[in-house]
Amino acid sequence: MRTTRNLLSSAAALLAALAAFGVQAQASSGPIKIGLMLPYSGTYAALGAAIENGFRLYVQEQGGKLGGREIEYFKVDDESDPSKATDNVNKLIKRDNVDVLVGTVHSGVALAMAKAAKDNNTLLVIPNAGADAITGPMCAANIVRSSFTNWQPGYAMGIVAGHKGVKRAMTITWNYAAGTESTKGFTEGLEKSGGKVTKDLTLAFPNVEFQALLTEIAAQKPDAVYAFFAGGGAVKFVKDYAAAGLNKTIPLYGPGFLTDGTLEAQGAAAQNMLTTLHYADNLDTPRNNAFRKAYAIAYKSNADVYAVQGYDAAQILGNGLKAVNGDLSRRDQLTAAMRKTVVDSPRGKFTLSAAGNPVQDIYLREVKGNYNEFRSVAVKALADPARGCKL
Ligand code: BEZ
Repeated sequence: MRTTRNLLSSAAALLAALAAFGVQAQASSGPIKIGLMLPYSGTYAALGAAIENGFRLYVQEQGGKLGGREIEYFKVDDESDPSKATDNVNKLIKRDNVDVLVGTVHSGVALAMAKAAKDNNTLLVIPNAGADAITGPMCAANIVRSSFTNWQPGYAMGIVAGHKGVKRAMTITWNYAAGTESTKGFTEGLEKSGGKVTKDLTLAFPNVEFQALLTEIAAQKPDAVYAFFAGGGAVKFVKDYAAAGLNKTIPLYGPGFLTDGTLEAQGAAAQNMLTTLHYADNLDTPRNNAFRKAYAIAYKSNADVYAVQGYDAAQILGNGLKAVNGDLSRRDQLTAAMRKTVVDSPRGKFTLSAAGNPVQDIYLREVKGNYNEFRSVAVKALADPARGCKL
């Protein structure tokens, strides 16, 4: 009896050891499973596609490997729908058992991803969504961002507008984290440089019925309007603003999302618009020129800021994996190396803050034809305040 029990417990111990060995082997060899959770439908669909293109381009440039390991992709269309976000991210974490999550565009969806990444201790690289809280009160060692916080470009545009003599501005945006945080950043920058926001106008995401709000702007006649919209919604807003004749009398400013990846569709309506962002199409550096050329050859389209952020997400992950020779079980060294990396980005070199968010130059750009052209550095090496992050 005792012998049988001994035999059973030895077998159990052997099985446990084999399982642990299997996990260990999977952590250091075979393909790394990357879960891409991005919008492939809806108003942000083009942004999701550009991020994936950029990510894949960097991996291809490394011979299809990061940290010496092949990459296997798993994909979920998050539809930019926060109500489906937890189910969607769990498909990647629990069903597909991915090693790393990469996503997403929409801040509301990203907040749910960050919670799931923290709860499951899964690595998360955010290639767009700017939700301030993710690198604020929710910050975590296993989460980094290759993009921006919503505060960053908004704050820079506020500073620029104030220096241009704007005293009274109105804001207009979708009523969710990205819009409200972007306009808060703008308000903070504008107040610092001598102006103020007289009214914030909002509508639900992804609504594009702007007419009543444009009528209100026309009646109030502010010195300038600051708008956060992106993707399909930005195309419609900029066209509607021009069709109402407002662009002739009230300058329209915004974070660069208002005119990035959208110019062919916006056409004349966007010409000469000023925006602030951490990227400009014509940055004349060998790094940016090589990136844009490779992207155009691979995808037969022009790169935009979303492609850059996808490319840099792969680069940050790749630099971390290189430091641990592709061994995911060396988690602390991997996340430390990802945070310490100097990212050789098409936007210019940048570092990550302790909270895991880019510390980067924010450029003032002007629309000329189909390009967002560099005009000046609006704010040098701008770090998000990371309010509430305790790491
Ligand atoms: C966001 O939801 O954080 C976002 C979406 C599109 C462009 C920029 C930010």
